[in-house]
Amino acid sequence: MNEIYLIDTHTHINMIEGLSEEKILEEASKNNVKKIVVPASSAGDIDKVFELSQKYENVYCYLGIHPSEAKDWNDEISDKIKEFAKSPKVAGIGEIGLDYYWDKSFVELQQEVFIKQIELANELNLPLNIHDRDAHKDTFDILKEHNKNSKVIMHCFSGSPEFAKECLKEGWYIALGGVVTFKNAKKMKEVATEVPLDRLLLETDAPYLTPVPHRGEENQPAFVKFVAEEIAQLKGISFEDVAIATTQNTKHILGI
Ligand code: NI
Repeated sequence: MNEIYLIDTHTHINMIEGLSEEKILEEASKNNVKKIVVPASSAGDIDKVFELSQKYENVYCYLGIHPSEAKDWNDEISDKIKEFAKSPKVAGIGEIGLDYYWDKSFVELQQEVFIKQIELANELNLPLNIHDRDAHKDTFDILKEHNKNSKVIMHCFSGSPEFAKECLKEGWYIALGGVVTFKNAKKMKEVATEVPLDRLLLETDAPYLTPVPHRGEENQPAFVKFVAEEIAQLKGISFEDVAIATTQNTKHILGI
């Protein structure tokens, strides 16, 4: 029988202010969250999240530049990622993509840096952890055109059930977080119901998007269990089934 545990596939533990690294990992472990993946956002994060992955056995990282930080991208960072990616603790390239919500003043630069990082992931044969905010069509089109061989995870999926179907057709994976537990998140509950179990991943995106019943508190990896519980309820299956499937998917995609 499979050992049953959860993996938080996207969690910024370096940004959590109220708990020490050790406490975060202890709480996670107590709640049966046995592995976590910490994405880089800015250039300054790359060393930090890589160090975390080297320091703790159950911590992995994604390396990359968030679209809002696209101005940071340069050859030096690309070379650094290539060097760090020799470590098996680097699980993918992320979080990368497009964000038209915060700032639309440099859309072309965002797209250019997104494409360069897709190419880097392809070269390294690493999965992609995708940030798409208010940019579904462009994110989809760029991935479809430029991604050759990397597995794709749509992190903190925020599209419609129809968009989820389009992504599934491409063979991509859908990662859901705390939003699915929000009472008024009808669309996301529908997505959770419709996406097949073998294409779903769990995440917190901590310290943001804290799930019910901890709204108002800082999010942390341990809370990914509430996401799993909600999805189980929506699908009418057991918590264990959600845990087994999402953990197996994560192992398969990220090789962790
Ligand atoms: Ni994030």
